[in-house]
Amino acid sequence: MTEGKRRILLTSALPYANGAIHLGHMLEYIQTDIWARFQRAQGHECYFAWADDAHGTPIMLSAQQQGVSPEALIERMNEEHQRDFRDFGLSYDHYSSTHGAANRELVETIFERLQAGGYVEQRTISQYYDEQEGMFLPDRFIRGTCPRCGTADQYGDSCEACGGTYAPTDLHEPRSAVSGTTPVLRESEHFFVRLGAFEERLQAWMNSGTMQPEVVNKMREWFTEGLRDWDITRDAPYFGFRIPGTEDKYFYVWVDAPIGYLGSFREFCDAEGLNFDDWWRPDSETEVYHFIGKDIMYFHTLFWPAMLMGAGFRTPTAVYAHGFLTVDGTKMSKSRGTFIMARTYLDHLEPDCLRYYFGAKLGPGTGDIDLNLDDFVARVNSDLVGKLVNIAARCAGFIQRQFDNRVSDRLPDPELYQRFLDARPDIAADYEGRNYQAAVRKIMQLADEANRYIDEHKPWQLIKQADQAARVQAICTQGINLFRVLVTLLAPTIPFTAARAGAFLGHEVGPWSALDTPLLDTAVRPFEPLMTRIDPRKVEAMIENSRQSLKPAGETDQPALELAEEIGIEDFMKVDLRIARITAAETVAGADKLLRLTLDIGGETRTVFAGIKSAYQPDDLQGRLTVMVANLAPRKMRFGVSEGMVLAAGPGGEDLFILSPDDGAKPGQRVT
Ligand code: 2FM
Ligand code: ZN
Repeated sequence: MTEGKRRILLTSALPYANGAIHLGHMLEYIQTDIWARFQRAQGHECYFAWADDAHGTPIMLSAQQQGVSPEALIERMNEEHQRDFRDFGLSYDHYSSTHGAANRELVETIFERLQAGGYVEQRTISQYYDEQEGMFLPDRFIRGTCPRCGTADQYGDSCEACGGTYAPTDLHEPRSAVSGTTPVLRESEHFFVRLGAFEERLQAWMNSGTMQPEVVNKMREWFTEGLRDWDITRDAPYFGFRIPGTEDKYFYVWVDAPIGYLGSFREFCDAEGLNFDDWWRPDSETEVYHFIGKDIMYFHTLFWPAMLMGAGFRTPTAVYAHGFLTVDGTKMSKSRGTFIMARTYLDHLEPDCLRYYFGAKLGPGTGDIDLNLDDFVARVNSDLVGKLVNIAARCAGFIQRQFDNRVSDRLPDPELYQRFLDARPDIAADYEGRNYQAAVRKIMQLADEANRYIDEHKPWQLIKQADQAARVQAICTQGINLFRVLVTLLAPTIPFTAARAGAFLGHEVGPWSALDTPLLDTAVRPFEPLMTRIDPRKVEAMIENSRQSLKPAGETDQPALELAEEIGIEDFMKVDLRIARITAAETVAGADKLLRLTLDIGGETRTVFAGIKSAYQPDDLQGRLTVMVANLAPRKMRFGVSEGMVLAAGPGGEDLFILSPDDGAKPGQRVT
């Protein structure tokens, strides 16, 4: 860590401009914001600048469907996003759009420099083209039958049923998801960035000592696999920046998205009179950190630093990846009502409650974070209301009623106050290391101590003795000052409560160094409740609201079922369904959707690959019962031989159900 005043720039990943913000997004933005507020409270110069990620095919199609221009769509979303951010107390300094002029200029400069450096190559590629729509189709917009397992209606790059990945040209009966027509192959000239040319420099950057171990491990895997050239071109029609010197080619959205970090900061520097180059020249002494989800590490730890290196900019000091948000132990689900939009949350609950809960759960690693709704209510009520705010509430009444809101001119227990101050470096180190859960834990331990101090000194008894008035004032002065320390240390996490506390104290809650001087011989303001308990019914209402607003289209909107050929009972009886115990469940290296299951069907063990990773963690499955098709001919898959199939029900994604109740059924028992 640099001594003295540091100059720090932070970013969160840029949200796509075609969707509303949900709590999964908020986890990251709150993580970033806590860090920003913490750094500022240490007196450092710290900026948080970011933007909407405005380009790409989905945004273009979304605008078309809504009958508006992409420009109008992204402008509306930008306002909507920022309203959510402000209401959650995000203290960003600038929010832009990757579609802005500053970004376009930077994208063009970086591309020119990459070309001049010999890092860009042109090659002709062959791709599916939708003749009716007049557009090349991204992999996700091609559907067809999986070439591996024969499941219909799979994406152009991977199969949700068997987890196989393949080229779109391998799909059987391909069709365009945009028009439904059969696409044709068409050639096009594309620009590629030679990622391999940066390998040594990327390795040196990876080893600079600032990266998370999880990130380093992932990068090592990618280096071992070998760095492939990166296709940075998309053909018209595309909503993005046109590649200079071409008529109908655009930069792929993942080129201008991270450059959007620069574009946003450039605008901020221009508006504030800061020197952009001071921050982004290769030998800059400033610090730059990107907070991201672990799913977009490849872009941020290979493509992005390579672009910066090739174009003569500094690289980020570190990229900090976090895990995914789960709600009540599973992926956020629309049908369960746990896919909670930021606005829906704000319609029912206080922003500080979620900020506090995330703070209490976030650590430095990439493990997933669970929002357990019962625990959320319990923790907020017991920690924030029952412990922290209670300290002030217990003292304020006396100070207000008996002493005309004035605190006394000395602390009765300066050593205790000093011990609270002495906790600062440790707690600061936790924040710095993004170990917010450790910081919160230590602050709450101190809150217990402060409450104990009041319990032991019993001002409510002393006040009955006329000659003890000064003592009561002193005890409450001590309590209020301990509260001030705690609320200051926790302020990065709960800024709204901290602001209300500042209003009560008559002194803004701000830099940690301000705590060196306790509040003495001064007036506090009349006490207003700083935070109220969460009523669990509000959480229920939020879930119900989420379920209702994201309900899939009604039954009547569904197209008529297209059934496969009718079979008789004798055909059905050929399917030998058996109860199976899952003795092992593992992820499969290189497969996004698959889990490898080891199944015991009573005296026989089978290995089955099942495309259920979107719905289950391997640990959830171990030891549980399922039903399998036991007489299916073994199939050779990319990752091994699958000896059967498990039965799954549900619409897919996180809603896939394969488990059978453990109600005495025996592995191997036939299911009829
Ligand atoms: O994954 C996403 O949601 C992207 N919109 C993140 C972009 S981050 C940066 F590169 F712009
Ligand atoms: Zn398949």
